[in-house]
Amino acid sequence: MEYNDILSELLIKIEGVQSDRELGELKASVFGKNGIITELMKSLKDLPPEQKPQAGKAVNDLRVAFTAACEEKEKELHRKKIADMIDSESLDLSINKPIGSIGALHPINQIRKKLTDYFIANGYIVYDSPEIETDYYNFQALNIPPDHPARDMQDTFFIGNGMLLRSQTSSGQVRLMEKHKPPLKMICPGRVFRNDDDSTHSPVFHQMEGLVVDKNVTLCDLKGALEGFAKFIFGDKTTIRFRPSYFPFTEPSVEVDVSCFNCGGSGCRVCKNTGWIEILGAGMVNRKVLENCNIDPDEYHGFAFGLGLDRVAMIQYGINDIKLLWENDVRFLKQFR
Ligand code: PHE
Repeated sequence: MEYNDILSELLIKIEGVQSDRELGELKASVFGKNGIITELMKSLKDLPPEQKPQAGKAVNDLRVAFTAACEEKEKELHRKKIADMIDSESLDLSINKPIGSIGALHPINQIRKKLTDYFIANGYIVYDSPEIETDYYNFQALNIPPDHPARDMQDTFFIGNGMLLRSQTSSGQVRLMEKHKPPLKMICPGRVFRNDDDSTHSPVFHQMEGLVVDKNVTLCDLKGALEGFAKFIFGDKTTIRFRPSYFPFTEPSVEVDVSCFNCGGSGCRVCKNTGWIEILGAGMVNRKVLENCNIDPDEYHGFAFGLGLDRVAMIQYGINDIKLLWENDVRFLKQFR
């Protein structure tokens, strides 16, 4: 057979190769023990001397051509392998896969977020104040000296070294006013702690403190601010009323009720037939508190209020046991999605 014919035949075989394995087999059948090129090499020694150089060159050309074709094929197989991999491993981002279960914000967080958004929209800043406090910020600066009977209003957790878990976010008022001077408008949401435990009280609960200090702030401004807030959260028809109360850090102090959103004031289960629901404590900032923060009480006046977020969530969603807000039972939480 002519060398050229052998080469053409080998090239056709290479053409048909589909995998690395087939290529390996083909190479073995050409260069192996009884392979064509091996045989041709061997046969050279039997040729007459004058034919040897030419035949030797021809066999070598054949070997070089075949090897080159094999290398080309190898590259082609490699490219194909990568292309196949890209095809088979690509992500179909358009695929529509139903998601098993989606979480929801905890009801307390929903209320907190809603109220925070409301107050931010009305020009208040959100102030973060520590949960672990000194007696000074939680009590003394708020006009509650040691041994003052008002300390009994809040059964406080003392944790040693004069430190305590804040029993009210009112400590945030003092921290803000120490650092920043009026005009001030802030809310301070956060956890507070008291040794209280029944179906409407939890040792940990959430408050949102509000504070506005400026020139010429009056009780009327407090009423306007709280009325706007009550309508926002309980609906446009809601009205509020003030009842006289006592807090050492406000003077005068009030307890604020909202008209029952459930019955509109005629009396029902939600308002215990009174037509009113108590939601917060408030008042005009006591001059002593302003003085403690180096703010001149003759120049500036302020109002403050403290709202229980757990209570608002319970009223709004008709939750009858505060423990439900802490158990994190998915069957409960799912209802607030
Ligand atoms: N800190 C009071 C409480 O926890 C609420 C309050 C805040 C009252 C601000 C008046 C002004 O009961």
